[in-house]
Amino acid sequence: MIDLAQLELDLINAIGSAETATAVEDIRVAALGKSGSISGLLKGMGALSPDERREQGPKINGLRDRVGSALAARKAELEAAELEARLQAERVDLSLPARPRRRGSVHPTMQVMDEMVAIFAEMGFAVAEGPDIEDDFHNFTALNFPPKHPAREMHDTFFLKPNPQTGERKVLRTHTSPVQVRTMQSQEPPIRIIAPGRTFRKDSDATHTPMFHQIEGLVIDRDIHMGHLKWVLETFVARFFEIDDVQARFRPHHFPFTEPSAEMDIRCDRSGGKLTLNTGDDWLEILGCGMVHPNVLRACGLDPDEWQGFAFGMGVDRLAMLKYGVPDLRPMFEADVRWLAHYGFSAYAAPNPASGLS
Ligand code: DAH
Repeated sequence: MIDLAQLELDLINAIGSAETATAVEDIRVAALGKSGSISGLLKGMGALSPDERREQGPKINGLRDRVGSALAARKAELEAAELEARLQAERVDLSLPARPRRRGSVHPTMQVMDEMVAIFAEMGFAVAEGPDIEDDFHNFTALNFPPKHPAREMHDTFFLKPNPQTGERKVLRTHTSPVQVRTMQSQEPPIRIIAPGRTFRKDSDATHTPMFHQIEGLVIDRDIHMGHLKWVLETFVARFFEIDDVQARFRPHHFPFTEPSAEMDIRCDRSGGKLTLNTGDDWLEILGCGMVHPNVLRACGLDPDEWQGFAFGMGVDRLAMLKYGVPDLRPMFEADVRWLAHYGFSAYAAPNPASGLS
């Protein structure tokens, strides 16, 4: 008969001196695995007489339990020691200054997006997002672009290859307006969102790049009217350009998704080859806006007799150029570190309305 006490002593000693989790695992397999020493004893119980079994059973079970606990305890101990060693080894001193030559900067487009988000967040707007690759429904149809209408081509749309099964052609979204549709489909009004993001059109010159950025705004509630639109946008422009008494005008325009539609201009002066805002006899177009068209509300499952709203959209890169004096749009996306070093912003100064935007 095997000496249970000796077996236990050997196992407990081996466990105590195991230095790694793998060593502990090897002992577990050798003792409690399928053909382990203790498993063998348990299996052998079937061959014992009832009396022997009554005597040996509790001893072997007790041995199994004690060895099992010792294995688990040693494993936990080793894991804790390993974690401690890693914590020591991977310690990072967060108070060390960044190395000046390796310091990155925030791109003017991202800086301006952060500024816009900060201003609108203070007015109670949440940030919404949608995919860069859109379907025709969200980019055009739900926004009241008539089927086969040349507007789809006028947007200089990038079409993806048609799906061989369905023939459906996805598009790179030509504007952020599809996020309006996605938001109205997925949220109950009242809605107050802005949607910053990338947009794409087949166009390239000093003022157009195939990829650019827009911010969309959408407010849906009961009894919303143009007065609300005007206040929100004038307040935004005042804070964004840090001017007090904004001189703006709303010029009638056409967008399929709003009725009435307008473009907002700010008074400006272009004399002497220099652009100055809020003074002079000239006007600078800033954004498009309007009251959400009833067809758009219906396409998104809202009853236009119950809900109204306004929407607006603007080009972020263009506003960044205007605010920070960037002369040409194209280098903005060429990822030249010298350009970024010149026009970029400190990553440590996140814009917020309390400490100042820029
Ligand atoms: N989606 C328009 C564009 O890309 C911009 C725009 C105009 C958005 C008016 C709006 C809006 O939400 O109301 O040209």
